[in-house]
Amino acid sequence: MLIKKPDGVKSSEITPERHYINRREFIRTASLAGIGLTTASFLPEALVGQDRWPRGKKGPYDTDEEVNSFKEITTYNNFYEFGTDKGDPAEYSGRFKPKPWTVRIDGEVKRAATFNLEDLLKPHKLEDRIYRMRCVEGWSMVIPWRGFPLADLIKRVEPTSRAKFVAFETVYRPEEMPGQKSDVLGWPYVEGLRLDEALNPLTILSVGLYGKELPNQNGAPLRLVVPWKYGFKGIKSIVKIRFVEKQPPTTWNLSAPDEYGFYSNVNPDVDHPRWSQKSERRIGEFFKRKTLPFNGYADQVAHLYAGMDLRKYF
Ligand code: MTE
Repeated sequence: MLIKKPDGVKSSEITPERHYINRREFIRTASLAGIGLTTASFLPEALVGQDRWPRGKKGPYDTDEEVNSFKEITTYNNFYEFGTDKGDPAEYSGRFKPKPWTVRIDGEVKRAATFNLEDLLKPHKLEDRIYRMRCVEGWSMVIPWRGFPLADLIKRVEPTSRAKFVAFETVYRPEEMPGQKSDVLGWPYVEGLRLDEALNPLTILSVGLYGKELPNQNGAPLRLVVPWKYGFKGIKSIVKIRFVEKQPPTTWNLSAPDEYGFYSNVNPDVDHPRWSQKSERRIGEFFKRKTLPFNGYADQVAHLYAGMDLRKYF
């Protein structure tokens, strides 16, 4: 995600390399190589992996692709408030306090309010959704989120007819988020969606993953998940949701407007100015796979952009 490459940031962070091979790849590779492993107990601890999300009955929004391990999902990600390396969020988010938490909802809505998180969640039924997630840097994962449709919350607060966009803001707490003491990005982190994108049933507010509460590094206690867009749209640790008439500013677009647009729909046909978006490396796999338009969710969302030039509105 880096624009200006500060000292100490390796170029391997920009073209990410696979940092470890997971168990399924290891077994496949080992048996191809004729090693003939018969039991996982022969595997080194790091390769045995954590619990896998069970395969089984799937909901209408779930992908049936294999889910990444809890360890992969929670130790390799971006959360610049805790540093710019992929391991920093897990390493430096321990002091962050996601409880108690309040969320301010205002702007063009009839029921503006400050909710504590428990009250915000009370009327909503949490569900698990297995989504493909694609980072703009070229890696992807499959994550079992726990959350609820943002549309349900939007209906509850009743936007006025002037509301056309939804703007989100992350908490600003430099004492708990050491990355906010650097100027690598402007703080607080902000993001936005068009109202119809926010209302799409795929868009969720998440409070957990792998059936557990969200770890700090993944955006505790409340974060956005929009699976057809690049991962940076998934703003973490949200404290404000504002309904507005005009397209709101977004952190990465402010930082590098030529590289990161407002829409940021996953699009293999529109390259990032510094790298191709045609393929991606699924964390845990050795070979690259083809990136799909709208990250494979075109049937559900392509209509939102009918008639728009997606090269211009990238
Ligand atoms: N939200 C905040 N507040 N700060 C960030 O740096 N990084 C984004 C997004 N949300 C980020 C953020 C990026 S670039 C990605 S790829 C996802 O979080 C990655 O986190 P995840 O793997 O937990 O989804």
